[in-house]
Amino acid sequence: MKDKRVRYRTESPKETVGLGVTLGRLLQAGDLIVLTGELGCGKTWFTKGIALGVGVSPHEVVTSPSFALMNEYEGLCTLFHMDVYRLETPEDFLDTGLDECFDGRGIVVMEWGDKWPEILPECRLNVIFSMLGEQSRELLMTGEDPRVIEILEGLRNQALE
Ligand SMILES: Nc1ncnc2c1ncn2[C@@H]1O[C@H](COP(=O)(O)OP(=O)(O)OP(=O)(O)O)[C@@H](O)[C@H]1O
Ligand SMILES: [Mg+2]
Repeated sequence: MKDKRVRYRTESPKETVGLGVTLGRLLQAGDLIVLTGELGCGKTWFTKGIALGVGVSPHEVVTSPSFALMNEYEGLCTLFHMDVYRLETPEDFLDTGLDECFDGRGIVVMEWGDKWPEILPECRLNVIFSMLGEQSRELLMTGEDPRVIEILEGLRNQALE
């Protein structure tokens, strides 16, 4: 199946948060978003936006769960925010039991999840960040599952140029 690709560009952290908010509003329990890109490219800022869009209180501080591996937030549904940078192998990941979060109870946002695509559910929205400049980021969103294509079409209709 051919994948769908939608490209966005942001020029500030605020714009990246805004794009995350728009995406978050379109999400529901069971959706998986995999964020890829070098250190400091904006994955956590984008996740802050997703959390706001999902209805998590703005008073909740969304920080990188690099040491905790996973933080859980409650909005209109549960949001699991993972950062698997420190894990080395798919077995390390499976040993943590974090894959239980893929059971549909909540939305999962995974930083560095692209390390082992083979253990991830097929139905996932990939967001690949590139640093274009100090404040400039490209976010390339791809996916091929019909649910993901629906999300991307919703995003294109609501967002942005
Ligand atoms: N357009 C932009 N979008 C997002 N962040 C930006 C942008 N321009 C500059 N920044 C800065 O880049 C940094 C992004 O940090 P963030 O923690 O979101 O990165 P990350 O990809 O999660 O890194 P890590 O891999 O360490 O978890 C912040 O310091 C932010 O201020
Ligand atoms: Mg991060």
